[in-house]
Amino acid sequence: MSNSSPRNILITSALPYANGSIHIGHMVEYIQTDIWTRFQKMQGNNCYYVCADDAHGTPIMLRAQNEGVTPEELIANVAKEHKADFDDFLIDFDNFHSTHSDENRELSTEIYQKLRDNGYITTRTIEQAYDPEREMFLPDRFIKGTCPKCGADDQYGDNCEVCGATYSTSELKNAVSAVSGATPVNRESEHYFFKLTEFEEMLKRWTHGGHLQEEVSRKLDEWFEAGLQEWDISRDAPYFGFRIPDTEDKYFYVWLDAPIGYMASFKNLCEREDIDFDAFWSDDSNAELYHFIGKDIIYFHALFWPAMLHGAGFRTPTAINAHGFLTVNGQKMSKSRGTFIKARTWLDHLNPEALRYYFAAKLGRGIEDLDLNLDDFRARVNSDLVGKVVNIASRCAGFITKKFDGKLSDSCSEMDLYQEFVTQGDSIAKHYEDRDFGRAIREIMALADQANRYIDEKKPWVLAKQEGKQQEVQDACSVGLNLFRALMTYLKPVLPVMAENVESFLNAGQLSWDALQQPLEGTAINKFRPLMQRVEEKDTLAMVEESKESLQTGAKQPETKQKPSADTVEPISPEIQFDDFAKIDLRVARIEKAAPVEGADRLLQLTLDLGSEKKNVFAGIKSAYTPESLEGKLTVMVANLAPRKMRFGMSEGMVLAAGPGGDDLFILHPDDGATPGMRIK
Ligand code: MSP
Ligand code: ZN
Repeated sequence: MSNSSPRNILITSALPYANGSIHIGHMVEYIQTDIWTRFQKMQGNNCYYVCADDAHGTPIMLRAQNEGVTPEELIANVAKEHKADFDDFLIDFDNFHSTHSDENRELSTEIYQKLRDNGYITTRTIEQAYDPEREMFLPDRFIKGTCPKCGADDQYGDNCEVCGATYSTSELKNAVSAVSGATPVNRESEHYFFKLTEFEEMLKRWTHGGHLQEEVSRKLDEWFEAGLQEWDISRDAPYFGFRIPDTEDKYFYVWLDAPIGYMASFKNLCEREDIDFDAFWSDDSNAELYHFIGKDIIYFHALFWPAMLHGAGFRTPTAINAHGFLTVNGQKMSKSRGTFIKARTWLDHLNPEALRYYFAAKLGRGIEDLDLNLDDFRARVNSDLVGKVVNIASRCAGFITKKFDGKLSDSCSEMDLYQEFVTQGDSIAKHYEDRDFGRAIREIMALADQANRYIDEKKPWVLAKQEGKQQEVQDACSVGLNLFRALMTYLKPVLPVMAENVESFLNAGQLSWDALQQPLEGTAINKFRPLMQRVEEKDTLAMVEESKESLQTGAKQPETKQKPSADTVEPISPEIQFDDFAKIDLRVARIEKAAPVEGADRLLQLTLDLGSEKKNVFAGIKSAYTPESLEGKLTVMVANLAPRKMRFGMSEGMVLAAGPGGDDLFILHPDDGATPGMRIK
């Protein structure tokens, strides 16, 4: 791979919203992208990695108002925090910009005007909920009310958490504005639409043109089947964003200028470093363009974005690389469990490279969710990095330093073994290229085992005590260190700081695939210093504890539903008689199967085994539990509840859970020994 000519590559990660802190879920993406970028740079490719804060939209405008600052001040503060978090996680952006920038204003205006001139923009009057007190239109998630289907109070916008119904905000009963508490009124206004429908043919071709993962193109086929719609790209004032040209009070919807923010960040870099912007973005560009994103924002990146680019005469992406979501200890990240861990909280307790390694070991090419199990994390990092990799160097370095003045043998005594390590580098490189980091790590660790076996067989600590064996000691330890050098070369995209420390320890220039062609012979190493500390349980525990505390003090995020805090206890309900209780048939049930429900954000479909029969139940617990974490567990259900017809099918009971809802929810499990079907009295 070293003799092909360098590729020109532009790489992006999704732009984090400027209204909240970076958490370890986000870090999956930035770490994945950073590893891939560092790998490409190590191969000698001409490669740029850009990102920015996503600074526009209603939530940011409202949060700034709540905090009594201007949106500009808010996003400047958040940008500082985000940059520090990314730096400390060793995310090596070539540029980190903001969507609220001159470059983005110019590019967004240009793209909009081209789309308009090419006939892809249309206008139409729509009716929307309006807050007469705050004098603003209300996005769905800023309206609360009573579910028109089941009567549950305090439901948001367009769907009910309790019964799973979806409806339009105008059907919601007793609707109030979550911003002011006023009753919303319906009001008309003119909106601008992007005619996505005109791109159907182009998009069908593009989504099957090798730019997407297999499972992502299948998802898109479903969307094509459901039919493409025109996309509403305007919002009325007041709005924090860019004004649409030739209008008084219309703004680009945040998702219009957000992806253009990729271009704008790159443009800003181009101006600073004199790079040819057009060579990367013109219609006939042969540079490569990759967007790394989470699976929740595929629609924007695989439909709207290529259509916008194509419609405005720019090149389309080489590939969209989507990844799954992070769970912690098998469940959705949760504030009350202390698993909603901010990047900064991690950094205060643990080594960022340990997380980089763990994610690398778990990441593949697909969009499955990945789990950070904190015990497994500790075991894995301690066994692989400390126990296997660093151990090789610490076993060999002492002899070389003490007995041979730091000098390695003049010739490598095990060229076959060394060559095996070098050859394996091609396969490891291929896995990195394919974003199959887990496979790369498995192969690297298999080599580490092999290196440790070699040292175990040679036993330099025994040889060192024998007369006439000194050359053998030097040879064995020199081979050990050469194998270690190969391993650290392959781990360098994942562990950049550790690799840098190894570079100064080995004292022989930068680690690279190319440099491995030649083993180190006759050169002198520097004194060995510990390269990585063991991860201690007390540190992961302290981190979780601190994450729990930050619930009370944590910044409010208007985008997410406000929940009662963990210490507000619901009042006890009015008294009932024993007979009332006796009517409820509570049973132990085994969760045989748990599955997400297409089109319902909060529901899981459960198959509950009661011993004598099975029940199908839709439960609003998806924010708190992944399906896998529930399967096989025992729980308690109301077995004689009249079946209820829901949009997704019949629900034949309820499972019992405690807590206010959302991710603060805890299902009940009977004590050991209970079996399915037992009645609870
Ligand atoms: N601002 C938009 C992206 C605009 S891109 C033109 C956005 N921001 S975000 O802050 O919500 O998310 C940023 C990225 O982090 C997204 O790709 C998202 O999928 C990813 N993740 C957010 N939470 C995550 C997990 N829990 N796990 C893995 N990735 C997660 O979306
Ligand atoms: Zn309902």
